[in-house]
Amino acid sequence: MVDILIIGSGGAGLSAALAAKEAGASVLVVGKMYPTNSQTSMAQGGMNAALGNVNEDHISLHIQDTIKSAHGLCDEDIVRQMCADAPKTIAWLESIGVPFSRLDNDKQGIETIAQRQMGGASAKRACYAQDYTGLKILHTLYDTCLKEKIDFLDEHYFLNIVTKDGVAKGATFLDIRTGEVKQIDAKSLVLATGGYASLYHGFTTNAYGSTGDGIAAVLRAGGAVSDMEFIQFHPTALKHSSILISESARGEGGYLVNSEGERFVDELKARDEVARAIFSQMQQGQRVYLDVRHLGEEKLMELLPQEVELCKLHEHVDPASELIPIKPVAHYSMGGIDVDYALEVNGVKGCFAAGECSNAKVHGANRLGGNSLLEITAFGRFAGENAYKHSIYASSRAADDVQLQKDRTEIEAIFAKESSINFYSSRETLGNLFYEKVGIVRENTKLNEALEEVIAMQVAHQQMGISDKNKTNNQNLIEFLEFKNALLLAPTVISAAIARDESRGAHFKVGFEEENENFKKHIVLQWKRESA
Ligand code: FUM
Repeated sequence: MVDILIIGSGGAGLSAALAAKEAGASVLVVGKMYPTNSQTSMAQGGMNAALGNVNEDHISLHIQDTIKSAHGLCDEDIVRQMCADAPKTIAWLESIGVPFSRLDNDKQGIETIAQRQMGGASAKRACYAQDYTGLKILHTLYDTCLKEKIDFLDEHYFLNIVTKDGVAKGATFLDIRTGEVKQIDAKSLVLATGGYASLYHGFTTNAYGSTGDGIAAVLRAGGAVSDMEFIQFHPTALKHSSILISESARGEGGYLVNSEGERFVDELKARDEVARAIFSQMQQGQRVYLDVRHLGEEKLMELLPQEVELCKLHEHVDPASELIPIKPVAHYSMGGIDVDYALEVNGVKGCFAAGECSNAKVHGANRLGGNSLLEITAFGRFAGENAYKHSIYASSRAADDVQLQKDRTEIEAIFAKESSINFYSSRETLGNLFYEKVGIVRENTKLNEALEEVIAMQVAHQQMGISDKNKTNNQNLIEFLEFKNALLLAPTVISAAIARDESRGAHFKVGFEEENENFKKHIVLQWKRESA
């Protein structure tokens, strides 16, 4: 039995692992992929901390911007804690070796870190490493974990939380390499399994696997989820591939223009507003482009080398001389596992959650660009510390194997089933359905249609199965299980969106275009336990 079992090996999971290990716990990090593969690398543009290195700034302004962007749905105490600690969080990352871009390359210390503008921010506040910020942070965290001899188990697909009387005792996994279903017992759990933006399959900056596996597992274990209707659309993804082009391109002075070459929005407004402005142009038949030509090749290569490469590779345009065709797509899920002040899952004791899978009430209805890396690092560490505290008093008696047997039976049943419906085409259908009917601008009629279609898909899913019957390295099986989770979460997003008859942050509804005080609250969902 390990003290702390961390599920998910992105930035939040690795930060939690380091904090728990520092506290003296035995730690095991389990991920379905490899640590350097996570979504953390998608936060390219930067990480917020009011250092005031390049202009006047203050922690109170960072707090103010975050609260404004959250549209009344954040917990102001938690926001204050995160923003006030941000300089310390940056200093910690610097101390472990994150190669932040510098104002003066010959000097160390957080006062020499370069900072740039992000949307919705009242100052140049985002610390960055060119446009590889998330990637560099992720790699540095992973290197540090290896140095600290933290144990990893890669290519293990998370199935379920093992609980006893509402307390987490471990988790079950499918070992992707061997096909074996295993149980790992632990005194505390940290979930850091990422968000659910891949419900918008084909219309998201996220990898296919961002299907909310941890969130679905919490629901199955009797825990609560909240604010599921709030999904952030990033204004600038490449038109044909949905690959992210960082907000930092606009932060460094890039324009948004339509087919007539006209600018139509302040490019540095918060993401929800910019995404809607682009969507409205598209509805009027305009094409929309990001224009960074005036920045010049030298500046582009110095500050935004990854964006240049991505445009050339995936859109076949050279941003130094050509317009970049873009569209807004799903990027980040604000909602997720409902946690308390200690980041403990509401409804499952001894289980903590951090990062995009959790709803720590810091982002509210719309996350501020540059706050995700801050949250995963700061709250990842906080979750690791709290999981350690829980583990000190937790029972070390191993859990029974009821969940394990159930999961083994379920996997065997999937292998035994003859599939008649191809779930890959259903996954595409779900992505199209979400983008069209649960997208940037919502309407109750379309949301209700979407709900009906999702319910029909859930029924059809009973007939779906896998065609690859190999036990080992079976990607077909993993994608089937991921799709099952996506289908489980889909109605939580749609029904919360139906219930919220107002517009707030990333949730904009036709016929209810204003914020309504009656809805200044979280929509919390939890499955009812059937009485025995
Ligand atoms: O546009 C970006 O670089 C994304 C940043 C973020 O999601 O925070």
